[in-house]
Amino acid sequence: MDFLAQVNEFEAAALLAIQTAGDTVALEQARIEFLGAKNGRLRDLQGSLGQAPRENKPLWGKRFNEVKARVTNAWEARKAALAQPAIVLGGVDVTLPGVRPELGRRHPLTQTIAEFKEIMGRFGFTVVDGPEIEDEYHNFEALNIPPDHPARDPLDNFYLAAAGCTADTGPARLLRSQTSTVQIRIMERNPPPIRIISVGRVYRPDTIDATHSCMFHQMEGLMVGAGVTMAELKTVLRLFARAYLGHDVHIRFRPSFFPFTEPSVEVDMSMDESGEKWLEIGGAGMVDPNVLTAVGYDPEHVSGFAFGLGVERFCMRRHRIPDIRLFYGNDLRFLRQF
Ligand code: PHE
Repeated sequence: MDFLAQVNEFEAAALLAIQTAGDTVALEQARIEFLGAKNGRLRDLQGSLGQAPRENKPLWGKRFNEVKARVTNAWEARKAALAQPAIVLGGVDVTLPGVRPELGRRHPLTQTIAEFKEIMGRFGFTVVDGPEIEDEYHNFEALNIPPDHPARDPLDNFYLAAAGCTADTGPARLLRSQTSTVQIRIMERNPPPIRIISVGRVYRPDTIDATHSCMFHQMEGLMVGAGVTMAELKTVLRLFARAYLGHDVHIRFRPSFFPFTEPSVEVDMSMDESGEKWLEIGGAGMVDPNVLTAVGYDPEHVSGFAFGLGVERFCMRRHRIPDIRLFYGNDLRFLRQF
């Protein structure tokens, strides 16, 4: 067979093999057979061309180059087609890459609350819940806060619409201003000993700024039994603060007053190593005998301590969050960092 016939035969066979290659494996086989740099048939033809008589070279060379380009182009085109098999279903190209779904995360406060519960669980405290809509008895009266006490001022509390609070529908209700309500609800229904925490929202019409919000979270703790002392209260709070914030945090207790504890303290945590910057994180004290009596306990036989801590402030110190409002803004750029 003369050279030109061989080239024609090569062209037909190569184009057929390329065009009928059903997948990339078949196409690669065709490439090796026809265009392969080592033993491919195109290379053999090139070898023959090299041996050709001088006078035939211009014509044969031209034809060779033409076929080489055509077969190579056919191979490129087939390769591109196999790489992008557009499968269109209902007007949608289902071979296009998909949109990766965004994974959510738990809110930093949710994470903090879970960790609080875990730490206090190790100290033997059981988690309980209470309602956010409370009556005056649990929010005030049973906590030794009498009717004329300034803490009951309507300007300092979120009372619910008076229309629902007639003599027929029962006493006034409000959004709880403290989680201490849960102390009463638990002791009413359970005899001592008690060792509980309760974490949840509280509501106060405070002026909103970097450290105040009209809704925030508290962790209430209550331990009642025979011979429970203030020393245990201080130890539990110290151990808790260190478990959550690390060993370099210091806790300080200042004498204070709450109607439902006696003696009472306010609790501060150190904000740095200077020993000068402190932030209040809550209140605590020994449960007032009047409170124990109100729930039917005998203050001659049992004593207890209680504390209420601000959840946000712990989380802010741990993560160096400068503004409490960031927790409630739902800005994903903030939330994604936790
Ligand atoms: N309930 C108090 C507050 O909201 C804190 C507190 C809890 C104080 C328990 C003493 C005992 O400020």
